[in-house]
Amino acid sequence: MPKHEPTSDIKREGPEDEERAAGSEDGPPSGMSRRSFIQGVGGTAVATAAMSSSTHAEADAAEGAEGVRVASITLNINGEAHAVSRVEPRTTLLDVLRNRLEYTGAKPVCERASCGACSVLFDGKPVYACSILAMDAEGHEIITVEGLLDGDNLHPVQEAFVEEDALMCGFCTPGFVVSVAALVAENDDPTLDEVKKALSGNLCRCGTYTRVFAAAQTAARRVREGA
Ligand code: FES
Ligand code: FES
Repeated sequence: MPKHEPTSDIKREGPEDEERAAGSEDGPPSGMSRRSFIQGVGGTAVATAAMSSSTHAEADAAEGAEGVRVASITLNINGEAHAVSRVEPRTTLLDVLRNRLEYTGAKPVCERASCGACSVLFDGKPVYACSILAMDAEGHEIITVEGLLDGDNLHPVQEAFVEEDALMCGFCTPGFVVSVAALVAENDDPTLDEVKKALSGNLCRCGTYTRVFAAAQTAARRVREGA
């Protein structure tokens, strides 16, 4: 799957959104370009993803409260199997992570596949969790920013962000950390241009790019040196 390529771009309504609007946010936090990615997201993707989802969920589908078909799925998150019941076809991976499994590192910011704050690793590649249907995530390895930790020890990328003071409000930071982790796993000596390209799917409204790019190269050095 190309970097940050979603299976759909959907608008969501319903109880989970009401819950978020009521304050479920967890407070201050912690080669595809963004343009070509956005161009690749079309309305037809919604229908395609929704149709394929029905083939992925196990067959305990039932009627939800509003007559919507729901199903139980099992997701592999950070190396653990998580059973999630009553998942609607429209439910995104980001919803399940945050509202059902309490992995709140991935942030809901634009929820339109534009900002990268919700980035997670999907079979090792960074994707927008707001634009992946939960049912389509079955059978794939999902790593969130929490999953980068090694027990109580920070991942080299997380250490590099601390070392370079690469955040201001921090809302974009989990997404950047995930994208940098994917980059340095493949390339432990990226040029600045390679860093910029790898992070082109992530936006920082505080404008902390210079320090984020420095953190990416520091992280690469730490990985290279086995630090
Ligand atoms: S919240 Fe998913 S890309 Fe912005
Ligand atoms: S540090 Fe505030 S949005 Fe990036």
